Amino acid sequence: MNATLTYLAGFGNQHQSEAVPGALPAGRNSPQRVAHGLYAELVSGSAFTAPRHANLRTWLYRRRPSVQVGGYTPLAHAWLKTGSAGGVNAPPDPMRWHPVPIPDETTLPLDFIDGLRTMVVNGDADAQTGMAAHLVLMNRPMGRRAFTNADGEMLLVPQQGRLRITTELGLLDVAPGEVALLPRGMPFKVDPHGDGPARLARAYVCENYGAPFRLPELGPIGSNGLANPRDFLAPTAAFEADAGGYELVKKYGGELWRADAASTPFNVVAWHGNLVPFKYDTTTFMTIGSISFDHPDPSIFTVLTSPSDTPGTANCDFVIFPPRWLVAEDTFRPPWYHRNLMSEFMGLVHGQYDAKPEGFKPGGASLHNSMVPHGPDAEAFDKASAATLAPHKLDDTLAFMFESRWRFRPTAFAMSGGALDTGYAACWAGLQDRFRP
Ligand SMILES: [Fe+2]
Repeated sequence: MNATLTYLAGFGNQHQSEAVPGALPAGRNSPQRVAHGLYAELVSGSAFTAPRHANLRTWLYRRRPSVQVGGYTPLAHAWLKTGSAGGVNAPPDPMRWHPVPIPDETTLPLDFIDGLRTMVVNGDADAQTGMAAHLVLMNRPMGRRAFTNADGEMLLVPQQGRLRITTELGLLDVAPGEVALLPRGMPFKVDPHGDGPARLARAYVCENYGAPFRLPELGPIGSNGLANPRDFLAPTAAFEADAGGYELVKKYGGELWRADAASTPFNVVAWHGNLVPFKYDTTTFMTIGSISFDHPDPSIFTVLTSPSDTPGTANCDFVIFPPRWLVAEDTFRPPWYHRNLMSEFMGLVHGQYDAKPEGFKPGGASLHNSMVPHGPDAEAFDKASAATLAPHKLDDTLAFMFESRWRFRPTAFAMSGGALDTGYAACWAGLQDRFRP
């Protein structure tokens, strides 16, 4: 299979791809006999009756229907948690985590499934609300093992190492700086795409139980800007040579289940629709900021949003802080001190984050939960308060945020897995009372 891509020009648009000429039926979805002896199968990512702009479905033309799989049995996983019930009680303090080391394969072999480590959870997968933020540590490919998440879609944010993602609809190659979205209910596998040290990979994962991610509305920004639809890339149809059995692992109702299949689930020869995996390169994000004074709210950095049933109050937003010019006059340029109804889980792909020049490391994470105050550390405050306000480029930086209306509960792994930065609060200890009436 080759990792070639087509433009995904807008989420509502229909796309099509065929790996064998003539495999895609013309003019109808399920003809009496599909060309080349293929089976037609529909995957619906929304209710049939969802409004047209939110309706997601794809037709698959495949060598075997996906119903052909043995019975599922439970598969234990100590570190994968789902919903607020999977978290532990934690104080309303800002929290931060050091990068969790990626073990060597000889010490602890980890593929994408084994390497999942849930950090924070909220909501309820059965109620299709909320999300989880996971880390995933990988040092080996999945081989003949596939993963399907029936609880939610998965947004991968690679932090270290290139990844090759095999999906039902084709291949996606992603590297740090890019992200990939894997729709709910669609089998995939994620493999480190390198040898030697390059085979050690770390990624952040947002597992979204709620409404599928979509592009945010632009309002007065107009028809261009932020993430542009033409920069979301879908795979082209590709199928795997059938070389015997597969282990299928499914996340379903917060638990993992496994089954043996006689053949590969990656047997789709042609497809058309708009429920598709995609990748997106964050360097194509058109960043908007102040050209006079003050900061706009960080919502201007939203790449994708999963709305909830309350207008403007997201189940989850995916927000990035990419390289950008700071030019505002008479302005404290790092993020302000604040507290927020929304809960913020942050990660750092590379470089430095301007509110925390030290301490917040690439591969690490932080949690500023609903109404938990946070802001620049003492070093960042002192530096920014005294800085000469010439135009300044923030370069070599990519931080991001999974922001949710639902309060996060950290997992037992997050609290006692060894990565918690117990000295985080000290970064604000040096802030003095500067009041001089
Ligand atoms: Fe914040």
